[in-house]
Amino acid sequence: MFITFEGIEGSGKTTQIRAIAKALAQDGIPCRVTREPGGTDIGARIRAILLHPENKDLVHKAELLMYMADRVQHVETVVRPALNRGETVLCDRYLDATLAYQGYGRGLNVDLLWDLHRLVLNDFKPDLTLLLDLSPEIGLSRAWRRIDADGEEAEQTRFEEEALGFHERVRAGYLDLARREPERFRIVDAARDPSRVQEAVLEIINGILHP
Ligand SMILES: Nc1ncnc2c1ncn2[C@@H]1O[C@H](COP(=O)(O)OP(=O)(O)OP(=O)(O)O)[C@@H](O)[C@H]1O
Ligand SMILES: [Mg+2]
Repeated sequence: MFITFEGIEGSGKTTQIRAIAKALAQDGIPCRVTREPGGTDIGARIRAILLHPENKDLVHKAELLMYMADRVQHVETVVRPALNRGETVLCDRYLDATLAYQGYGRGLNVDLLWDLHRLVLNDFKPDLTLLLDLSPEIGLSRAWRRIDADGEEAEQTRFEEEALGFHERVRAGYLDLARREPERFRIVDAARDPSRVQEAVLEIINGILHP
């Protein structure tokens, strides 16, 4: 199974993915945790360009193609090989992040993004996408708090500096994508305690792994 976690900044993707990987491993399900951008060595360098607050003059289509380059490298060298070994892949952001941020957020034509996805990734899609839905007010305040508290992910990203309206478009975009593909998406209310969100996510995953 290829499972992706999506949602705005601070919605709890990284928190949940770690907890879920641990829980699945305890159940004897081999998992590979990975992320976009930056799930490969080359991707980590692309990620540094994409997220650095100084790169304000990155134009939208160049940004888009960097995300796509990161994704192709990641799918070919990490995601597909892990799936072929029989592992469950848990991926922190994927295709829908591009559709939500570059499409709904930046205003690039969503049909063009789908065309590009089909062209370079053969329309390779997750089996399940968990959308951690949260208001940007709460998400951004969590993300900013994390910047104060945390060492490793302490750098502020280009996206956290975007106006609230941008994040509202991204959130609405994610919800629209979920509405269009109800088979693939599950929407999870991410405003609850981390442990409650985890329960909800595990219930969905277990329901699919052991129908
Ligand atoms: N359900 C929750 N309730 C309150 N705080 C939470 C919850 N989930 C995560 N947090 C906290 O909010 C901050 C952001 O969470 P996390 O890093 O998991 O979000 P994210 O979706 O991965 O964000 P980003 O897109 O910026 O990587 C962290 O400090 C985390 O501990
Ligand atoms: Mg994260």
